[in-house]
Amino acid sequence: MENPLTSLAYKTLTHSLQAEATEASPALRSLTRRGFLLLSGSLASCTAAVPLAKVTTPATQSTPYPKPAALKLARPPVPSGPVPRNPDMALRSNFSRGSSITFTRVPVSGNYIAITFDDGPHPQNTPRLLEMLSARNIKATFYVIGQSVNNYPAVLRRTVDEGHEIGNHSHTHRLLSKLSDSEISLDLGRCRDAIVKAAGVQPRTMRPPYGGLNVRQREVVYSEFGTPIILWSVDPLDWKRPGASVISSRILTGASAGGIVLAHDLHSQTVDAMPATLDALLRRGFQFVTVSQLLAMKSEPAAAAVQS
Ligand code: NI
Repeated sequence: MENPLTSLAYKTLTHSLQAEATEASPALRSLTRRGFLLLSGSLASCTAAVPLAKVTTPATQSTPYPKPAALKLARPPVPSGPVPRNPDMALRSNFSRGSSITFTRVPVSGNYIAITFDDGPHPQNTPRLLEMLSARNIKATFYVIGQSVNNYPAVLRRTVDEGHEIGNHSHTHRLLSKLSDSEISLDLGRCRDAIVKAAGVQPRTMRPPYGGLNVRQREVVYSEFGTPIILWSVDPLDWKRPGASVISSRILTGASAGGIVLAHDLHSQTVDAMPATLDALLRRGFQFVTVSQLLAMKSEPAAAAVQS
């Protein structure tokens, strides 16, 4: 005989799932269409198409997900008072320690963070950003596109003159994982040469456009160029242009010690978001370092304890 309580629970669950499915479908269709438009319109952005990222859909469950408004993201409080200035830090940049060549973050014993700006140089946004960084004594890392370096070499020279680090972000911003080894080598080599020609420095790290470079290719790139592959731990999705306050909020929510923040000086909204974002991070006690400085601060694993 059927248990009436079990039957009721089943009906309630079934109804709930049907309601969810009905509600989700138009949004999902809309999202797919919007996603396609964003994808086709955003090829110049680093994370517009992240081919390696696996999209996971939540498993069906009887407990409905909380509505977005009910999700309180834990954003640590920002102390009030005057904004501290980022300290001067003369750090060695020896990142040869350790076997890993890919980093999304770096284990460090201090409140250090690296902020990175991709897809420049840009003739207006980059100089505007440089003013903001200079006012706070913050050194950042710029993953530049070789073609843009050739278009705006003076902007790159100024970036280097002001103490920032330059990284290789390829010459053409194509998805490198779809290219042959020789094509990758040619593309990264052209970007490196453009940087050397414009500013007289060698990139010490690289970031593949869209984060797309498979493990074997990373080893090929590292062996040829000696540049660790730098991804990120915080992605504010600023290339979608969600507005300066959203960009700022996402960065502040995701920021943590040893973190690498991804942002784009290609977009004016991102630059607009920086004064509030940088001041809040300084107030929370973060100290900004460049990516290779962060790599040089990598904590040694507790090998002695294992060996004893
Ligand atoms: Ni990019």
